[in-house]
Amino acid sequence: MHPAELDAAARAVLSANDRGGYTVPTEGLYPFQWNWDSAFVAMGFATFDADRALRELERLVEGQWDDGMIPHIVFHAPADSYFPGPEVWGTRHRIPTSGISQPPVMGMALRFVAARAPAAMRPRIATLAHAAARSHAWWRAARDPEGIGLVAVLHPWETGSDNSPAWDAALARVPQDTTTPVRRRDTGHVDAAMRPRDEDYRRYIHLLDTYRAAGWQPAAMWRAAPFRIAEVQVSAILCRAAQDLSSVFDELGEPGAAAAQRALATHLAHGLDAAWRPALSRFVSRDLVAGEDIAAPTQAGFLPLLALDLDAPRRKAVLAEMRRWSAGCVLGLPTTPPYHPAFDAKRYWRGPVWAVVDWLLAEGLRRNGEAEAAQALIAPLLAAIARAGFDEYFDPLTGEGLGGRRFSWTAAAWLVLSRDGAAERAETPAAA
Ligand code: GLC
Repeated sequence: MHPAELDAAARAVLSANDRGGYTVPTEGLYPFQWNWDSAFVAMGFATFDADRALRELERLVEGQWDDGMIPHIVFHAPADSYFPGPEVWGTRHRIPTSGISQPPVMGMALRFVAARAPAAMRPRIATLAHAAARSHAWWRAARDPEGIGLVAVLHPWETGSDNSPAWDAALARVPQDTTTPVRRRDTGHVDAAMRPRDEDYRRYIHLLDTYRAAGWQPAAMWRAAPFRIAEVQVSAILCRAAQDLSSVFDELGEPGAAAAQRALATHLAHGLDAAWRPALSRFVSRDLVAGEDIAAPTQAGFLPLLALDLDAPRRKAVLAEMRRWSAGCVLGLPTTPPYHPAFDAKRYWRGPVWAVVDWLLAEGLRRNGEAEAAQALIAPLLAAIARAGFDEYFDPLTGEGLGGRRFSWTAAAWLVLSRDGAAERAETPAAA
């Protein structure tokens, strides 16, 4: 397909998944609004429709709790193709939502959209910026109560990387008994070999039962949590989102709000900096229950590039390590490297390539002056999307598209990243 046709196809995916101002990740498998998906989707919309981009974020914020948390799912309308639905979460917001959060990409999205929105949209941007600031404050207060500079997740789903081997050891300590009957729906949509195992699903629901019993109160959840991880992927995204949000507030002429975001970003940058492990050439999360580093290699270890300006020795070490992971792969940074025993080219977050992860990594590489490495990550990803379609994720060894089809964030990634590439090519003097 020609790039213009692919653009049209990407927009068609977004409009097919539009449920009235918000976008479902994909039909069937994920029939509600997901938090970080919507932030990426907003950036996709912003390439051709700033109004619709802001609408996506406004609908997400309808789910924001009074304490500032933006939940990982907003159940705007009923659907029975997903488990666990609103009746299992049992939260008490005006609109039914889940009770946990997801990587706060929204601040990044807001800066991206604001740069492409006409002046008349400023009041809407200001309202959203304050909503994002409240959610950042929630992360800081509820999830970093000891002030270590990394925010903690209480459920693997909060990281966005649900089934990552990074959680194996911590999750193994979570009991499998549940007070909620487990009725999986995902394996009715997608091959079970690509999805989490049943025993892990029971642990996910055990955690949910535990937090529901704690009344979804942050302090009670923190105390009850058998799974508590100071996590570098979410912390890096929050740090970058705070940096981006401070620019948005600067543009809006709100210096006090901008300074608060810069202070948060500085606090998190210290935490991330301390999570660097020279022997591993990457950053590591910390299991706060066991009091141990999480050594399992996953993409999360490189996400701090998004928020930090690395010194030359670290930058070189990271690049060499990323290259080592990609050896033998036809695309992407695999979410787990092929040399590791946990690697599975097709199973959810245990190897496959995710367009949005490579998008964030490329952004981090560019920030660190590594535009060529960024392009080396993105070009094969775009080629795989052009060949396979807007699939949920891709096999790093073959480029095969996997998981759900016609996925919103993959379409958004195409719209944003294919333009970045075009901009870079247009700047190449050889074209003159
Ligand atoms: C899966 C992914 C998560 C994503 C959701 C909807 O749960 O692990 O990151 O937000 O699907 O696409």
